[in-house]
Amino acid sequence: MKILCYNFLVNETLYTLGERMKIIKVQDEHEGGQVAYELLREALEKGGKALGLATGSTPISLYEKMINSDLDFSDIITINLDEYIGLDINNDQSYHYFMEEHLFKYCNFKESHVPDGRAEDLDQECKNYDELLEKHPIDFQILGIGPNGHIGFNEPGTPFDSKTHTTELTESTINANKRFFNSVEEVPTRAITMGIQSIMDAKEVVLIAYGEKKAQAMKNTIEGPISEAIPASILKKHPNSIIIIDEAAGSLLEEEK
Ligand code: GLP
Repeated sequence: MKILCYNFLVNETLYTLGERMKIIKVQDEHEGGQVAYELLREALEKGGKALGLATGSTPISLYEKMINSDLDFSDIITINLDEYIGLDINNDQSYHYFMEEHLFKYCNFKESHVPDGRAEDLDQECKNYDELLEKHPIDFQILGIGPNGHIGFNEPGTPFDSKTHTTELTESTINANKRFFNSVEEVPTRAITMGIQSIMDAKEVVLIAYGEKKAQAMKNTIEGPISEAIPASILKKHPNSIIIIDEAAGSLLEEEK
């Protein structure tokens, strides 16, 4: 494990490691899961009660560590980032199903919430989710990243001040996620997602990226400007954000400065 030091500009102020985004380079998912798990454990030890959770292949090694740990989750509330619109929760590609299979059925969380993508009134569902987030501010938020730089289902162009909302998925995201479906036609085209503001409100944010497919998005996020074109780039403004990145996802980064 290696901690990289990046200097970058936010509003014309030069920040260095420790002041803003911290980047932890790991060898692989196994080490990444361990590092993420240690960070999560520290957050819980400090009194964290609300966990923001993500789906996708990225957090699986962390979830495995959580399942095999001796942590007591009985006082912990989990709040997921997003869900497809229109998929039944028993559909094996729904994020409800994913969370159940990869984490919830093994851990004794006090409450677990995933947005309801089948709600008849989706606007109301978004409002309810924002109320939930107000009631339980997230202490520790886990994030993956899309190849286009999305976080949750906040696609490029999503306003930085967005709260929970419904969204049309971009072609890039549909293509990236089609590997889980029988055909591209089966991939839902809409989703409900926590907004970027909601993510930024979390006390600590840990974004994890593995694999070559994420390399360009990570270069843009870390080295590019803060821009709505790359949703994850906003994390450079978060007072406590950490990136866990493996060799392949970090392969396009400039050598550490
Ligand atoms: C989906 C999710 C994101 C996730 C991304 C990456 O689009 N909405 O929250 O970060 O996929 O998935 P993976 O970890 O499988 O690469």
